[in-house]
Amino acid sequence: MAEAVEIRPHAIMIPAPYQGHINPLVDLALNLASRGFTITFVNTEFVHHLLSKSHKNTGTDEIDLFSEARKSGLDIRYTTFSDGFPLDFDRDANVVEFWEYLIQDFVVHVDELMGNIVKSCDYKPFLITDTFSSWHAEIANKYNMVNVSFWTQPALVFALDYHLDLLRKNGHFPLPKEKSEDTVTYVPGVELISTKDFMTFLHETDITVEHKLVFRAFEQIENTDFILLNTVQELEPETVPALNQILPTYAIGPVMNFSTRKIKISTTLTQQTECTEWLQSKPPASVLYISFGSFVHSTKQVIQEIAHGLLLADINFIWVVRTNVVIDSDATDVLPSGFEQKVKEKGLIVPWCDQDSVLSNPGIGGFLTHCGWNSVLEGAWHGVPMLCYPLLHDQPTNRKLVVDDWKIGINLCDGESVTRDEVAGKIKRLMCGEFREEIKKVSSVMRNSLDDGGSSEKNLERFVVDLRAKIHKVILNFALVFLMKLVVWKFFESTLRI
Ligand code: UDX
Repeated sequence: MAEAVEIRPHAIMIPAPYQGHINPLVDLALNLASRGFTITFVNTEFVHHLLSKSHKNTGTDEIDLFSEARKSGLDIRYTTFSDGFPLDFDRDANVVEFWEYLIQDFVVHVDELMGNIVKSCDYKPFLITDTFSSWHAEIANKYNMVNVSFWTQPALVFALDYHLDLLRKNGHFPLPKEKSEDTVTYVPGVELISTKDFMTFLHETDITVEHKLVFRAFEQIENTDFILLNTVQELEPETVPALNQILPTYAIGPVMNFSTRKIKISTTLTQQTECTEWLQSKPPASVLYISFGSFVHSTKQVIQEIAHGLLLADINFIWVVRTNVVIDSDATDVLPSGFEQKVKEKGLIVPWCDQDSVLSNPGIGGFLTHCGWNSVLEGAWHGVPMLCYPLLHDQPTNRKLVVDDWKIGINLCDGESVTRDEVAGKIKRLMCGEFREEIKKVSSVMRNSLDDGGSSEKNLERFVVDLRAKIHKVILNFALVFLMKLVVWKFFESTLRI
């Protein structure tokens, strides 16, 4: 008997064009390729331009993100396409216009790209995109592709977004001022959450572009075949199973560079400053690492209070002060005057660094973070306790997990504003080792989940099996329809001849 032909699944993977979304999707691409998948990874030309610019010191003008991976035998192709704006358009300063375009019109560019890729494929590829891609269901439907959605935030945030109607019915969305500290216990999979820990858009009364992005993302959920969550089942033990009951979700996190260390790919969009040598001169667990991620902005006043807090705490630190960390203000004058001189022995101020490498260094003893989900996962993985200062989007909700649920960190400030004395006190508390035991536990839960037999590894395997079955079904259906059309055609052909 002829053996069934084993189909090599071919994924077209398109990340949302931001650092925090590109990083985990690249890692997922490497992971799937090492399981025998063919991957076509697609970045926008703008992202590709930033990648190439930030890798200039490697001697390349045009980066080929996966060349090392291909040398190791992985079948990963890499291509780019336009996001509809010229390279010199300031996507950060015009974020609303840019996001509106991504939601409404970007699909045209994806459609053109997909037409070209599909034409050149031996057999039908499938799609893996960010859940926030506003076009994935339409494109998957048009090209009859299996549709996989990748969620880059915790399951808790997914659950709240998915149950917006329930929040609306209970008067918690939009959130009126008088309910800003209510306790919510009715969301499936979320035992208890205070409304103050809701994502920031839930607090807005007017419809913003972020509402539109979330609404569109969750309208498409029912037309998604598989949803991959960048979280660990054991760390969100009620939420993940509750989602599994209503949707085809798979908790496969943490999806980060770590799982595929054999091939380390730098996905940085900003040139990195080397910190290793400086760190090596510091005693173990003596350095506080400070970063507010890749795109949210703070205020000059907060930055200055943190700076004074560092002086009062008299602590070693590495501080990522991005050029645009304060909107409309040059990075050079956001810090108090003379600050850099005062801290030149104890502090290293950089515009960007290799965060993974910094957090993995034994010199690091704490992480003052904005609670972006990648930062939370990276900090916890490396066993670094966190001082939480959430700014926007999912970050307040992520803070709840770090501080209230996992108990591996504390809040930077408990009142309305950030003050230097409180900053200094909190830094000292964080760095004194109080969280050592809890963070070790969380870190080992994460690491175990990726080991053979671990929950995330098993979930990823289960996804691969289910995906293969689905792809076979789609191909079979396609062949059946083709066969039926052929039979009907032959029938009419012979009838007409008679
Ligand atoms: C945002 C959201 O807040 C986050 O929750 C969501 O999942 C993605 O979009 P961002 O603000 O960029 O992300 O933060 P984060 O999720 O922490 O991602 C930042 C990434 O940049 C991390 O992977 C981090 O390692 C990297 N980084 C940051 C660097 O490589 N160098 C730096 O100097 C700072």
